[in-house]
Amino acid sequence: MRSTPLIQRLFIVALAMACSALTAEDKAVEPGAKVFQDSCLTCHKGNQSIEQVRLTRAQWKEAVDRMIDSSFVDPVPSKDKLALLLDYLAKTRGPSGAAGPDKK
Ligand code: HEC
Repeated sequence: MRSTPLIQRLFIVALAMACSALTAEDKAVEPGAKVFQDSCLTCHKGNQSIEQVRLTRAQWKEAVDRMIDSSFVDPVPSKDKLALLLDYLAKTRGPSGAAGPDKK
């Protein structure tokens, strides 16, 4: 005989749904993408050229430094966030499209 009251079972189902919704959201926006959104797309959103820019990580770093030096990026993300941003840019906007140059 089952003894779990219906209300309790409903609660567990709701909890499970809430949890899976949360993890789905986490996966949708990776941290570097969020920094890009918050710090760069404020200006570069809908900007055709930024979508086509393909750079190495070092070149992205130069571009980001230039943006920061021009006081465009405000507030300036923490070092950790900048590293995530560069990882994201190098991964998604590297020279050869997706993954960037071959690693040796
Ligand atoms: C306040 C607005 C603003 C923000 C925020 C901003 N930029 Fe820019 N960005 C510009 C302007 C204006 C130019 C053109 C002038 C120049 O190249 O210095 C530019 C140029 C660039 C270029 C050169 C290619 C192009 O499209 O002309 C790159 C690459 C770039 N930005 C990347 C970034 C990245 C990455 C970030 C986030 C870290 C960022 N920008 C944040 C305004 C901004």
